[in-house]
Amino acid sequence: MTTRSWAEPWKIKVVEPIKMTDRRDRERAIRDAGYNTFLLRSEDVYIDLLTDSGTSAMSDRQWAGMMLGDEAYAGSRNYYHLERAVRDHYGYEHLIPTHQGRGAEHILSRILITPGDHVAGNMYFTTTRAHQELAGATFHDVIIAEAHDPASEHPFKGNVDLGKLGALVDEVGAARMPYLSIAATVNMAGGQPISLANLRAVYEFAHSRGIRVILDATRAVENAWFVQQREPGQRDRTVAEILLDMCRYSDGATMSGKKDSLVNIGGWLALRDEKLAEKARNLVVVFEGLHTYGGMAGRDMEAMAIGIEESVQEDHVRSRIGQVLYLGQKLMDAGVPVVRPIGGHAVFLDAAATLQHLPRERFPAQALAAALYVESGVRAMERGTVSSGRDPRTGVNRTPKLELVRLTIPRRVYTQAHMDVTAESVIEVFRKRDQVAGLEFTYEPEYLRFFQARFQPVGAPGIFGEAAMAGAAAGA
Ligand code: F0G
Repeated sequence: MTTRSWAEPWKIKVVEPIKMTDRRDRERAIRDAGYNTFLLRSEDVYIDLLTDSGTSAMSDRQWAGMMLGDEAYAGSRNYYHLERAVRDHYGYEHLIPTHQGRGAEHILSRILITPGDHVAGNMYFTTTRAHQELAGATFHDVIIAEAHDPASEHPFKGNVDLGKLGALVDEVGAARMPYLSIAATVNMAGGQPISLANLRAVYEFAHSRGIRVILDATRAVENAWFVQQREPGQRDRTVAEILLDMCRYSDGATMSGKKDSLVNIGGWLALRDEKLAEKARNLVVVFEGLHTYGGMAGRDMEAMAIGIEESVQEDHVRSRIGQVLYLGQKLMDAGVPVVRPIGGHAVFLDAAATLQHLPRERFPAQALAAALYVESGVRAMERGTVSSGRDPRTGVNRTPKLELVRLTIPRRVYTQAHMDVTAESVIEVFRKRDQVAGLEFTYEPEYLRFFQARFQPVGAPGIFGEAAMAGAAAGA
């Protein structure tokens, strides 16, 4: 039997032109951006794989929904549509809309954390942990050891190590642990899923000790797909059924609608407990907006409600994750070190394994992302030492085991041909890896430093070219 190629389950109705830039311009652009891809202008980018956040293409139905925006200050009908979509697909009773995921994290951290508390989770996410720490908590990573090993083929690298979790609860006491922060999938581990069985075990253990479980549902649809594909006994269930089941093992969720839900902006906090929801509604009016819009326009809520319905369709999820896998497979075939197995939203390059001549203090992942841009105009993102930041107590740089560059695939935006070009670009940089110079800070912000930090090359500029030399001479 011959197998047929797969194709995207959509056709293109509107196009946005992009153009290839030339190398000298890119050398200058990355120098002016302080070798930080977050600081590039998007006009200077050819294929933009910085993030899958807010970068998806909306469907014709979603765009039609935008015209149904009810922009009433209070009680917009779009809020009630969104509330229904969240109840139907995630199962939570109380919905508090926010402008995006971190708005929900902020409110949740404020209502649940007392200074001196401890929060445990399966690895961490930058904004999530930042809000927990700002509220006075200490974060503890209780993910399984395999998650920190890029080469491990464990099918559920997002799983919690119940032994580690149990030891932590015994050490700090359940009374100082307001909730567990469980992500599905785990972004910083490489878009890796947590199994349904592990999630259930975590929930049962936490509840036996009186600790809540809060799900980061940002990419939970993608997690549900991995459960369907990999977990024994799940193959015949739909992604939608598995998603609902996953959410049952949590007391609430924070959500960035900008990923799974196929919208450009928006998020929510959802809770089962009426009293907690009341507290959250009380705070949302201070920081986001009234509890029936939370910083979103009515039309944004409508687009998200429709996006949620589209996000759980099997064809959509299969092709979305299939496209990520397609790129990952090409890189693996070429011998480029990547995190395995390939995750849901991105292919993660192992910068520590690629740039063995650079110590961590020279930020190999930051340098590799900058080099990829100079070489090809493809924009990726650092996920390593720079993203990890400093320990808020000691001020010492955290050095995570994973030193990665993330090639993040927006949903329904690029075709397989873009993936081919991306793979060729990465392979070219991999061949020239000895020419990638290390970096040092010229500016380091206090919070979430990766967004706005600036760097300069150390020593011979190599792949960064003449512009870097001119920059160094000018003291840039
Ligand atoms: N949780 C996870 C797992 C995320 O990936 C993000 C955002 C957030 C929470 C915060 O949501 O951006 O809507 O405030 N991740 C983006 C990314 C920024 O590029 O991975 P937000």
